[in-house]
Amino acid sequence: MYPWKSVLLFDPLINRPKYLQITDNVIKEVTAGRLQPNQKIPGSRKMADLLNLNRKTIILAYDELVAQGWLEVKSSSGTYISEQLPLTRYSKIEYSDGQQPLADIDFPDHYSFIPQFESIPSSAIIIDGGSPDSRLAPMDWLYKECRSLVKSRIGQRLLSYNDVHGDPVLRTTLAQYLSETRGMNTSADNILITRGSQMGIFLAANGLIRPDDNVVVGSTSYDAADWTLQYCGGHLQRITVDEEGINTDELALLCKKMTVKVVYITPHHHFPTTVTLSNKRRIHLLQLSIRYNFTILEDDYDFDFHYKSNSILPLASLNSGGRVVYIGSFSKVFAPNLRIGYLVASKKIIADLCKLRRIIDRQGDHVMQRVLAEAIQSGELSRHLKKSLNTYRQRRDNLALLLTNHLSDYVDFNLPEGGMAIWAKFKSVSLVALKPVINKMGLYMDIDRDLAKNLNSLRMGFASLNEKEQEKAIEILVKAIK
Ligand SMILES: Cc1ncc(COP(=O)(O)O)c(C=O)c1O
Repeated sequence: MYPWKSVLLFDPLINRPKYLQITDNVIKEVTAGRLQPNQKIPGSRKMADLLNLNRKTIILAYDELVAQGWLEVKSSSGTYISEQLPLTRYSKIEYSDGQQPLADIDFPDHYSFIPQFESIPSSAIIIDGGSPDSRLAPMDWLYKECRSLVKSRIGQRLLSYNDVHGDPVLRTTLAQYLSETRGMNTSADNILITRGSQMGIFLAANGLIRPDDNVVVGSTSYDAADWTLQYCGGHLQRITVDEEGINTDELALLCKKMTVKVVYITPHHHFPTTVTLSNKRRIHLLQLSIRYNFTILEDDYDFDFHYKSNSILPLASLNSGGRVVYIGSFSKVFAPNLRIGYLVASKKIIADLCKLRRIIDRQGDHVMQRVLAEAIQSGELSRHLKKSLNTYRQRRDNLALLLTNHLSDYVDFNLPEGGMAIWAKFKSVSLVALKPVINKMGLYMDIDRDLAKNLNSLRMGFASLNEKEQEKAIEILVKAIK
């Protein structure tokens, strides 16, 4: 006898009529292959008795299932699971974890270099790779503005399908803002609003790289950019990174040997080592891009955070040869979850990349984009930046002090001039061996990345943890190491 009572169990706490809950459960059983086509089911009276429900409820459920084609009534013999359903008669669907059917997805090889990502318990202390502290961000202000905007006529329009380039008001405001803060000479037509820098990297890489193109990156570089560039078929050619950033003399030699299509770079604070590309090399790089006709993909992910002096102007501000595609983001300014970034390039490149964006993501969040424009215009953004810059400077110094005082035998580092992380080289202790020990003690760090595994080094973010939290994290680390 089919276990109707347990299978068709309805949940009194769900705000959905009982007859529809029964309908849902029958459909689930049929699609899972546990109820088979042409299988007889109990009549409404019997089913009502079995489930201890009113017969009217069962009749309503059966009528609904008949109307949807899941059941059929054969006059004189009873009610059956429909014979017409396109289900393999005796197919058995396997389940993993009791939930997900196992689908056989034939992923191409080029996914193999992208790692699996672990989930981190919500109670853990995380020394991240350099994220902002969203507790400092004016999130109340942003969401309050969003709420009042959607109540207005303009907001209603923004909630609909809109321009794939992004909100025109944000693009115009941003063009002005980039000119004032970064010396970049652009207009709204040169800007595509993305969902964070990562989408910018993806779009630019897809647009610029064809299979087997040579793409130059640093000997250490941002791994998620590496994955994207390789995914697009790029052959990564690595050049040394030292205290002045990527070695442009090595790049010049490489350009003599092979055609270079793209150079991906994080010149403001090199990822992961945090060094700033020297002026001499900036100029050399731009000259090489003109001479050898390659595109510079400038990922300026943390422009706003430089503690020694004012932020250094991006390569894009010296872009006389038009070879720089510039990528920026609000992820580090407010919170990574905002997912709003931008790509700045020639009108032609923007127009082409918009076509690509159209097929992977119809558009971004136009409401939040308009509110960001307001944050820039009203000065809310610069007030927040000023405040967080001071806080992050103190947190950088605090983490540096903790490392010096408690872990100098185990960690080497240079104080970064900007960004949100210290590049820490571990010695006489293996990060890979340390990982399970600290995880057990509730501390998580970016150890799964190849950078950490291969170089026994990692970025220790200082911005997202306050002084107390940093002390707690280092206390755990010290205990685990010693
Ligand atoms: C160098 C670099 N580029 C890009 C990104 C991606 O940033 P977003 O959140 O804007 O996609 C990150 C994130 O940490 C990063 O470190």
